[in-house]
Amino acid sequence: KYEAVIFDLDGVICHTDKYHFAAWKCLADKLGVYFDEQINNRLRGVSRMESLEIVLENFSGKLTEQQKLQYSNQKNEIYCDLLKNMDSSDLSIEVKQTLDQLRRRGYLLAIGSSSKNAGFILKQIGLENYFDAISDGNNITKSKPDPEVFLMAAKFVNKAAEMCLVVEDAKAGIEAARKGGMDCAAIGDAVNCNMADYNLSKFSDILGICE
Ligand code: G6P
Ligand code: MG
Repeated sequence: KYEAVIFDLDGVICHTDKYHFAAWKCLADKLGVYFDEQINNRLRGVSRMESLEIVLENFSGKLTEQQKLQYSNQKNEIYCDLLKNMDSSDLSIEVKQTLDQLRRRGYLLAIGSSSKNAGFILKQIGLENYFDAISDGNNITKSKPDPEVFLMAAKFVNKAAEMCLVVEDAKAGIEAARKGGMDCAAIGDAVNCNMADYNLSKFSDILGICE
């Protein structure tokens, strides 16, 4: 049924949540803004600037666009420093073996991530040059739930939307896939939104869908 699989990166291929959390918490503390894991979970799949707006919901002061840009840059610097802690051990054997198996079965494999750090993260976990295409925060103008990032990924692998399966851990990502006319499989938290075509209890369950 499908010819390509488009994977979200953060929360699907590897886990960067704790680094995002630590970096946003650092910024929030500096601004005196309350921030917790629950707020952090709302940032999944959301672009950096939109994430900042969510973090600032509890901020009483007013910031100029330039200040916002400065703060989002500061968060990113802290985040990138933390990403240096990642290595090939952050890619699970299950994920790697599943990807390899999909490849053997003839599927094209792509990344569809809102992150501008996708390339760096892939490099850290040893998947640089592994995917047939990477569509990320650097080649889009609208982030999830807009379908742009997935439509670009489909275009990069030269497949129609109906031929692509999207794998996502965020509600915004499931919405994006649906808007783009793609079937989607939810993993992790996204299972709870009950909007996906498939719910995965583990990554390797994809092999049951893409036979
Ligand atoms: C992913 C993460 C989000 C993050 C976004 C932008 O979608 O799930 O939590 O805000 O990427 O990441 P970036 O690395 O560009 O700041
Ligand atoms: Mg994600």
